[in-house]
Amino acid sequence: MEYIVETNRLTKRFGKELAVNGLDIKIPKGEIYGFLGPNGAGKTTTIRMLLGLMHPTSGTVKVFGKDLAKERIEILKQIGSLVENPSYYPHLTAYENLETIRKIYGAPMERINDVLTIVGLSDVAKKKVKGFSLGMKQRLGIAASLLNNPQLLILDEPTNGLDPSGIIEIRNLLKQLAAEYGITILISSHLLSEIDQIATSVGVISKGNLIFQDSIESMRLYSMRKILLKVNNSERAWHLLISRGVKADYEKEIISLSNMSDDDIAEVVRLLVENGYSIYRVEEEKRSLEDTFLQMTSEASGI
Ligand SMILES: Nc1ncnc2c1ncn2[C@@H]1O[C@H](COP(=O)(O)OP(=O)(O)OP(=O)(O)O)[C@@H](O)[C@H]1O
Ligand SMILES: [Mg+2]
Repeated sequence: MEYIVETNRLTKRFGKELAVNGLDIKIPKGEIYGFLGPNGAGKTTTIRMLLGLMHPTSGTVKVFGKDLAKERIEILKQIGSLVENPSYYPHLTAYENLETIRKIYGAPMERINDVLTIVGLSDVAKKKVKGFSLGMKQRLGIAASLLNNPQLLILDEPTNGLDPSGIIEIRNLLKQLAAEYGITILISSHLLSEIDQIATSVGVISKGNLIFQDSIESMRLYSMRKILLKVNNSERAWHLLISRGVKADYEKEIISLSNMSDDDIAEVVRLLVENGYSIYRVEEEKRSLEDTFLQMTSEASGI
């Protein structure tokens, strides 16, 4: 697998506090990677290290297969980013604001109109930014981040503070950037609902630790892996399962099985039937992704 971003034991310490603890982040090419974690989890700190804005205490960052510590300038030329609310000259127009940034990159003039079109701000290109809504400002920020034609976009909570329609606009824009231009995107958020609707892969960070990293489908599967069994003589049935080495929990007359394959579940059912138990019900607990996320992060903070 080709990774656009790959960190190795990436760590940041502030005094005694471990803000980011040994992260091995892997972002495959072309993916929208949702970097998810509650407030204070270490998302912005990680992103700052990925952008070379902050030195890691230890560990390494590779972007496009190159070592960020050694080829920083070369790498940053191909990254677009939006960290915190970008600042603009309010009395200048959208076009003029982009022009100031274009000069720094040395991007061609035509690129300004291109990026304004991509983010849907062509119609207001000649309007002063001071009259822009927050959503328009965020789109302008994304336009600015696209000026250098990046292969990788890194966006720290780009929908923070936006209303629902603003959020949908940004989401559609990012999906379009990934689909039409093949740009790999890292987007951070503290809201799973948001990541769920845009990301193709997910990394969950809690208290500086990466506690989950996989495709969004795997996260959905993970959240549905609990099977509930209702049988007669349930407590005795549970003891039988335990004695045969099955990892089962028991609560309120219900036996529950976690993280088992279909074959494992069939085996458990067979064992119970062969021992004379009546199985009234075998059902999958419908846990929402949100519950899974909450459980993951609360389990992690219990450590
Ligand atoms: N410059 C700094 N000096 C000291 N501590 C810091 C600094 N930056 C961040 N921290 C601490 O590191 C931890 C992680 O903060 P960070 O801003 O990376 O979290 P976050 O996931 O981005 O949170 P949020 O969702 O609130 O933006 C926090 O406990 C924070 O107080
Ligand atoms: Mg942050």
